[in-house]
Amino acid sequence: MVEWTDAERSAIVGLWGKINVNEIGPQALSRLLIVSPWTQRYFGNFGDLSSPAAIMGNAKVANHGKTVMSGLDRAVKNLDDIKNEYKALSVMHSEKLHVDPDNFRLLADCITVCVAMKFGGSVFNADVQEAWQKFLTVVASALGRQYH
Ligand code: HEM
Repeated sequence: MVEWTDAERSAIVGLWGKINVNEIGPQALSRLLIVSPWTQRYFGNFGDLSSPAAIMGNAKVANHGKTVMSGLDRAVKNLDDIKNEYKALSVMHSEKLHVDPDNFRLLADCITVCVAMKFGGSVFNADVQEAWQKFLTVVASALGRQYH
């Protein structure tokens, strides 16, 4: 089981309380699709992804970014049981969507970049970054749990 210090818990919950999922979600997913273009293959039904401008203006990308980011709320509220909380989501990404689990980390990094840009170093200081990246690592690992 993952151990969290009180400082990590309050850093994660505090930062999460400041994040607007409708802003950071679309930004982070479009960044993933631009920075790691091979991830576009999973979104073949999302329409035009042919340029950064098309990706950033794509309403389906924006919507799905919100969905993914909202999915993190469940993890923040269940820090001590992220593995079980994400069991069904892991099965879905593995068996139905066939998403390569390496991509979870890539998306996590895009989320971190967007959050860092949004809040800057006084809010997103090194301690907060440590807790936040640990949180996203646990999320990525939980999502990868049901892969065989
Ligand atoms: C669907 C969460 C990473 C591809 C979903 C859904 C959630 C979610 C909540 C909707 C589930 C439902 O409809 O029941 C997450 C979280 C991630 C993550 C929390 C990591 C932080 C990724 C990555 C990819 C991906 C890295 C691919 C590169 C997809 C696809 C769908 C999906 C293709 C279905 C989209 C559709 O057609 O509606 N994800 N996801 N996910 N996810 Fe993820």
